[in-house]
Amino acid sequence: MELFPGTERKSKVKIAPSLLAANFANLESDIRQCVEGGADILHLDIMDGHFVPNLTIGPPVVKAIRSLTTLPFSCHLMISDPYNYIREFAEAGANYISVHVEGHHHLHRTLALIRSFGIKPGIALNPGTPLDFAFEAAEYCDYILLMSVDPGFGGQKFIPTFLRRCEMLRIFLEKQGYDHIEIEVDGGVKHENIARIARTGASILVCGSAVFNGDIVENIKDLRHSVEGISFKK
Ligand code: DX5
Ligand code: ZN
Repeated sequence: MELFPGTERKSKVKIAPSLLAANFANLESDIRQCVEGGADILHLDIMDGHFVPNLTIGPPVVKAIRSLTTLPFSCHLMISDPYNYIREFAEAGANYISVHVEGHHHLHRTLALIRSFGIKPGIALNPGTPLDFAFEAAEYCDYILLMSVDPGFGGQKFIPTFLRRCEMLRIFLEKQGYDHIEIEVDGGVKHENIARIARTGASILVCGSAVFNGDIVENIKDLRHSVEGISFKK
């Protein structure tokens, strides 16, 4: 039942700095600046050098930075066999965990395991992966991460055809009554395109280089300013 009949419940767009672009020699300072700038979520890119051609951080680093902030941690697992590592990320302090659908043979089992730890489960799709994967698994997710670049590296260029894809997913979710499921967009999100992306129905916007190149606090405030007034039905 609606609390205020006739009104829509609206949620604001969330800004999620991706620590991949942070200064790894001083993560503490960069995280504190994310908090000061008003970030909503911290996005942590976990890469294994197998699923993607790059290596980043694992559970020990997630655990080490957990005490620095109460901001939710969103772990984006770009790794093979993610099922085997869910417990470790849960124990390290993840609040959201997304796993890629590509080559993932027991997706529902993994999503159920994530939820069993009280963590929000999400699926992640590469730009070339058919949206059908999202249609199949939406019911078991709290959010769907759409990559707007091929995963593996920060600082890449946003793929423009992505906007249509995001719109199609939002339409599907609303038609199916899944309008509580959030869409997270990851890759090439900048000051100049963030508003257009948010208007397609995405509500979690991952920003790496757009946050960490230059003044972190000011960058987050500018990004927030660009999406002010844009909200999605929840
Ligand atoms: C890429 C990562 C992204 C990346 C985003 O594989 O998943 O989170 O850090 O960085 P920018 O915003 O610089 O494209
Ligand atoms: Zn990511």
